[in-house]
Amino acid sequence: MAMPEQNPFTPTFGAAPPLMVERDDTIERVLAALRHGPRHPDFTLLLTGRQGTGKTALLDAIAAAARHEGWLSVSATASAPEFGTQLRHELSALAEDMQRAPKTRLASAQALGFGLSWAKEAPDPQPLLHELSLRRMLTGIADTLATSGIGEGLLITLDEFHAADVDGARELAAAVQHVTRREQRPVALVMAALPEVTETVLADMGMTFFHRCARGEIGLLGYDATRTALEVPIRQAGGSIDGTALELGARSSGGYPFMVQLVGYHGWESCADDAKHLAVDDMHEGIHEADQALAAMLLMPLWSALSPTDREVLRHIAANDGPIEVAALASALHKSPSYINTYRRRLLRAGAITAPDRGILDVRDPAMRRWLDGQRPIADIEH
Ligand SMILES: Nc1ncnc2c1ncn2[C@@H]1O[C@H](COP(=O)(O)OP(=O)(O)O)[C@@H](O)[C@H]1O
Ligand SMILES: [Mg+2]
Repeated sequence: MAMPEQNPFTPTFGAAPPLMVERDDTIERVLAALRHGPRHPDFTLLLTGRQGTGKTALLDAIAAAARHEGWLSVSATASAPEFGTQLRHELSALAEDMQRAPKTRLASAQALGFGLSWAKEAPDPQPLLHELSLRRMLTGIADTLATSGIGEGLLITLDEFHAADVDGARELAAAVQHVTRREQRPVALVMAALPEVTETVLADMGMTFFHRCARGEIGLLGYDATRTALEVPIRQAGGSIDGTALELGARSSGGYPFMVQLVGYHGWESCADDAKHLAVDDMHEGIHEADQALAAMLLMPLWSALSPTDREVLRHIAANDGPIEVAALASALHKSPSYINTYRRRLLRAGAITAPDRGILDVRDPAMRRWLDGQRPIADIEH
């Protein structure tokens, strides 16, 4: 029997998972818009989701899928200082690549007037490509695309949009508004942001462009998909997993993608067996390790940013075995619904809780409940 390979899991932010489950619909949604053209509502799309739900990995997968269909892509991160400059550099590098396109294509392209339009329009002395405005660059690239057949269009992916500085966001909005919406050129935009984007960038004046972008939510994975995300990579790496261990791992992660990777990773590491058959004990140990890693990386920083009352309300939510009704929470705390509402909003914004349904609240994931319970072992999911 072949020896199992390395640990397949990727418990790192921004890393492509060994198997990306349950995101095909979103990828297909973007591809459908690209095929349809700039009039499609999803041609400019804003995806929101909490940290660790897989936004960065999804943007990368979307860009790869678009390239597979003949689109060019550039990506930038809005939390970087002066992301507008970063984006212009990416675009100028792309423009240079386009000019180095295969000779045969270039020859026919030249016959059709290939040549980036800004090269002709630019005043003397010529500015460097990346010093041109975003709008000029996008126009130039769109012109070249239209005449050269180098690509179907250009997809821009922009990560961490909630942290965008106002100037950069305004320039991007003006450029895409003009090139995509007004001139109907094939320059598509897919952005990812934390849900708080509605209170940061989108709340700023003059951001109507972004308000009109289509929206998508990136959330937790369903139970079956979570099982698949754990089991398939283990098998592909030459290992196997006990049915009960798999159920335990899937339930304890709560379908939270980052935790799925942590649980898979530490479950695999905890397994001393050479053949890497992950048993229930390995998984218990793995979950314990994963809980500690998540606490250090995410839960403790989150907790320390909460007010004493936030914490008290959160503890009550976590003390319930599952989702709790706002009304029940109000009576348990002897408070009015409007008082609860204030803290509901604060805790949602902090990413400490979720609202799975109207009038229902729950902790962000099972790991948070376990952590608040003082690392109570996972008794509630034991058989
Ligand atoms: N659909 C998915 N299935 C399984 N694991 C995923 C999926 N999407 C992301 N992950 C994993 O989750 C973790 C967080 O992903 P990331 O893209 O960094 O999240 P975000 O950008 O939302 O903070 C990474 O370890 C990644 O490999
Ligand atoms: Mg990210």
